[in-house]
Amino acid sequence: MNSPVAQRTDEMLSRTRELLSHIEANGASGTLFSDPETLVANLRDVIRFHDRRYYVKDDPVITDGEYDRLFAYLQQLEDARPELRDDTSPTQRVGGAPLDAFEKVRHPEPLLSLSNAFDAEDLAAWYDRCRRGLSGHLEADDPLPVSAELKIDGLAVALTYRSGRLITAATRGDGRVGENITRNVRTIRSIPLKLEDSDRDMPEQFEVRGEVFMRRSRFEAFNKALEERGEKPFANPRNAAAGSLRQLDPTVTAERPLDFFAYGVGPSNGWIPESQHQTLKWLSDLGFPVGGKAEYFESLDALQEFCERWAEDRDSLDYEIDGVVVKVDSVEYQRVLGTISNAPRWAVAYKFPAREATTTLTDIIVNVGRTGAIKPEAVLAPVHIGGVTVSQATLHNADYISDRDIRIGDTVVVKRAGDVIPQVVRPVVDARSGEEQEWSMPDVCPSCGSEIIRLPDEADYFCVASDCPAQFIRLLEHFASRSAMDIEGLGSKLAVLLAEEGVVSTLADLYRLTVDDLLQLEGFAQKKAENLLDGIEASKEQPLHRLITGLGIRHVGRDAAMRLVHNYESLQEISEAGREELEMIDGIGPVTAESVHDWFEIEENVQLVEELRHLGVNTKRLAQEAPVTASESPIAGATFVLTGSLERFTRKEAKQEIEQRGGKVTGSVSGNTDFLVRGENPGSKLQAAEDRGVTVLSEEDFVALLDGS
Ligand code: IVH
Repeated sequence: MNSPVAQRTDEMLSRTRELLSHIEANGASGTLFSDPETLVANLRDVIRFHDRRYYVKDDPVITDGEYDRLFAYLQQLEDARPELRDDTSPTQRVGGAPLDAFEKVRHPEPLLSLSNAFDAEDLAAWYDRCRRGLSGHLEADDPLPVSAELKIDGLAVALTYRSGRLITAATRGDGRVGENITRNVRTIRSIPLKLEDSDRDMPEQFEVRGEVFMRRSRFEAFNKALEERGEKPFANPRNAAAGSLRQLDPTVTAERPLDFFAYGVGPSNGWIPESQHQTLKWLSDLGFPVGGKAEYFESLDALQEFCERWAEDRDSLDYEIDGVVVKVDSVEYQRVLGTISNAPRWAVAYKFPAREATTTLTDIIVNVGRTGAIKPEAVLAPVHIGGVTVSQATLHNADYISDRDIRIGDTVVVKRAGDVIPQVVRPVVDARSGEEQEWSMPDVCPSCGSEIIRLPDEADYFCVASDCPAQFIRLLEHFASRSAMDIEGLGSKLAVLLAEEGVVSTLADLYRLTVDDLLQLEGFAQKKAENLLDGIEASKEQPLHRLITGLGIRHVGRDAAMRLVHNYESLQEISEAGREELEMIDGIGPVTAESVHDWFEIEENVQLVEELRHLGVNTKRLAQEAPVTASESPIAGATFVLTGSLERFTRKEAKQEIEQRGGKVTGSVSGNTDFLVRGENPGSKLQAAEDRGVTVLSEEDFVALLDGS
């Protein structure tokens, strides 16, 4: 037996096919269907269904072209027969004339705010208070079920439906009086104008509450488009959503990529579900998007695990969340608990640590990277963000600074998210004293003094001097790093010393170092010198992809290096490959292919490779590096969970590496988990893995597994 969803999809698809052939038979301007009313109703039904598949379920079942044909035909029929127009038609989402001001609307029941919990202890205290408040209804060992939902960082709206049709949409305002934004909300495609029939009788009139927001991916594209048109970008998705929703001209809102998740019902003059988890299910049945991440818990422990998991995994979502909202599941218990001042006792917001803070930008310095890119960096008055002290942050490039008019001395907003480097988001212009200094890129390289240039299509300025010491120091550091040749004891301090003292001026020089050379340097005794040389000696046997990574060829990181090694047996072969040939490699694009090819065109580089080979450094593919088909990898079919931050990979990269080998990554430890990869500062998942006896891998173990051992 097919599921009801599958049956309905089948039915709607067959109606879609029927309509499409009807349109085809009549041609765009052919005769109208004998009963235009039925035809129009049919088209609307079918289009609504496909809107839902596309905007709510993110799983369309027809092509964009087919959809466009249905839509254009409906539009054409409505134009020809004005008496068939209807407010809830999918064609009626376009907006209309601008308003002078928003009308105020009084909420029939106030939109409450939430009290906060900042840690596990607060959460436990809230749960206890609820239990005590329900003492007449709960026995000591009865569970108190709760629903936990992600707290979307957007704007609260209240949508009123009468006879299944959207009649008003209002902002939260001060909780009692909001603004009428109905015409703007109508343009949000994931908000139904007309509701689906559900199993239950729909109340004649009721209110749906939820959050309007902008997806991160849509926000980035939207901001880029704004910048290209010379308009000011928004600081974050929340501001972009707020700015878009509060537009007096609904045609502007219609062009903004807004989205919506429903999370509750307000006043209703009919039946409503008895629990929060049923409410979410009901809302989904009516055609609302509900996010799909909510979970139902009967114990505090599991609830706390959910909160901690999402605090850690928030970056894996395409939208911003700032916490978890926990609600007593039973609506009856909610009534018993009631509200205090303007927050319900039956709900709490478990807030994640803030990731933004303001501080003073005391200076802007520039760093030279190993490719010669000159990067501006912010020097900050130290500030605590999410448990870490931040005193430096990236400013990306000169355009980033000038576009945002960031000045030295400014109070700035600094953001630290997940495992990315902290960044300066924007200046707080209102906090200016007038003493702030504008900044400009220096004309010469801070390391070698040669002129710096900006190449067409590049955001960065570059020092192109081949003998720039700063570039070489960065290269040496990178070469020895754990993601490349992994030379024990050779970190950034020693790289500076070796380069500045002139004992190492090419990568090949490393392999010519003697104990005597090292003993001349500050801080070196016999033992330390021998240890370093042992480390250097050992690196000669490293797999080829590590050597390639270490050479610092632009655009060639670990992944590209692996791909090269899968296709060629030696560095020699790679050096002889033509650009087109390199481009044919799966996962190597034209930019990387050109970069590899150009690198080997430079005489000094060819010579370097030759010297390294003579000095005994492995330049051939090792057996363990031979291409493995996914099914041969020990990772194939295994389920991984990641916790804490890894040194060599971002979360995304680690996930890619696993998936390329046929494994999969999930968000939490369960009976199906095979491995937990443990990074720095692991979260509660580590304990969960240990409790279940899941194999815990260090980053080293993980890399070894990726490398096939
Ligand atoms: S319930 C009485 N659930 O957080 C319950 N609110 O202070 C009131 N929010 O701006 C809200 N996601 O719009 C609830 N799943 C969720 C939510 C959520 C985001 C927002 C809400 C309001 C704030 C609550």
